[in-house]
Amino acid sequence: MTEKRQFRAIKGTRDILPPESSLWNWFEQTAREVFESYNFREIRLPIFEDTELFARSIGVETDVVSKEMYTFEDRGSIHVGYPQTVDEVIRSNDAVKAAWELKRIPQTPENELRVNLINHACKSISDEGASALLRFVAELHALDLGDSVTLRPEATASVCRAYIEHNMHALPGDAKLYYVGPMFRRERPQKGRYRQFYQIGAEVLGQSDAPAIDAEVLEMLIAFFNRVGLTRTTLYLNSIGDKNCRPDYVALLQNELLNVADKLGPDSQRRIETNPLRVLDSKIPEEQPIIEKLPRISDHLCDACREHFAKLKEELNLRGIKYQENWRLVRGLDYYTRTTFEVTAEGLGSQNAVCGGGRYDGLVELLGGPPTKGIGFAIGSDRSILSIQETGSAPPPLVLSVFIAWMGPKAYPAAVSIARKLRAAGLAVELPPEEMKFKKSLGLADKLGARYALILGEDEAASNTFTLKRLSDAAQKTLTENELLEYLESERRGTRA
Ligand code: HAM
Repeated sequence: MTEKRQFRAIKGTRDILPPESSLWNWFEQTAREVFESYNFREIRLPIFEDTELFARSIGVETDVVSKEMYTFEDRGSIHVGYPQTVDEVIRSNDAVKAAWELKRIPQTPENELRVNLINHACKSISDEGASALLRFVAELHALDLGDSVTLRPEATASVCRAYIEHNMHALPGDAKLYYVGPMFRRERPQKGRYRQFYQIGAEVLGQSDAPAIDAEVLEMLIAFFNRVGLTRTTLYLNSIGDKNCRPDYVALLQNELLNVADKLGPDSQRRIETNPLRVLDSKIPEEQPIIEKLPRISDHLCDACREHFAKLKEELNLRGIKYQENWRLVRGLDYYTRTTFEVTAEGLGSQNAVCGGGRYDGLVELLGGPPTKGIGFAIGSDRSILSIQETGSAPPPLVLSVFIAWMGPKAYPAAVSIARKLRAAGLAVELPPEEMKFKKSLGLADKLGARYALILGEDEAASNTFTLKRLSDAAQKTLTENELLEYLESERRGTRA
């Protein structure tokens, strides 16, 4: 016999149940409205992508890529494809060699022979022509290599991939795209931190890096936060330079860090080698006085970056957007250049960043696309909604407008018909599927929080009327169908206004 087992949502994932799900829908719908008023349009992206897309974009040394990705091999498809041309054969051969070295191919003597055979066939392709190519393809397939795929830990990389794949640079104007959906990172779960979490992001890709674009993106973000009542927030702003000035700064920082390495903890010590900028992100109390004395990027920006940052601040002032500069805001992903920002909110404890973003001017090119500028952000929906709930600014939950208390076989067809008409008029209606005594019906209507009970018995059915009972004060009136529809619709408009 199968053992009885109770299944539970996997650690770090959760169900969002009603009525909370209405809050989520409202939150996401408001984002759509605000973003579309800035002429952003939605892009729907795949949930999983080629692992390499994230490794290249986010950076192999980042926590996200090195520790937190959900990566698996998609068996049955061949990573290196079906080579058709000599060029593709050579590329496939390189991919096979890399997969062998990374031990993604089972390290059996038989497979080693195959890899060598592929390599040999590839080298002799110009001599042996077609037969070598055929042998190559056959052996390649025998390796049964799977694609390495990853559940997306973020979506900026996917947006850039899609921008390149669909030649969006050829479209008129900038590509202004937004997305809504789940992301996956294998972090330690805690309040406001999940392994499946949700983001609403927006990206602008195009030829211009005008500071007015950065400012408008931030204006849109703040407009959205204002619309959803997330007003007790702080916007932190920084510029981390570009490929001209940052390498020198990072070298200087690394040197300074080496001088104080013995006073730093193991994580920061490791980062001196792998990613010195990330040391600035440390929250460890003992490291704070040391970090405060380190050289600051703002003193080492090149002229172009300094000017860009100064102009951005002017543009923000013009729009009345308040911000605080934070020279230590370096962000945890490698693709950023110049502008970086984060928004924190109240009521969240240590995981208080509700949005992060910045400029990533080289990313599209890094992924094989044309030279392109980019900027964007992602809002963490879980944390934002938590903050809205904790600060009490959530809108009232959706209410059930009408509960149809019907009784008797003659009343039933009229109940089905009026339910359909009320729903078509935009009201939330509950129609019990089985007959209930009036007392039980009204009790249930009350428990479900219905605003009205529509009483429909044999008498009403015979006279083509309805008895509408307001449950808050038990006031009751008898109406014809037209009167009922008119009354409820005007009430709906009134309560919505
Ligand atoms: P990020 O800072 O890694 O940036 O994530 C953005 C937001 O997602 C965070 O501020 C936080 O609210 C939320 N978030 C991140 N991880 C978790 C988690 N484990 N649980 C709950 N919420 C989380 C990015 O993802 C970039 N792609 C943003 C961007 C867009 N930059 C440019 N364009």
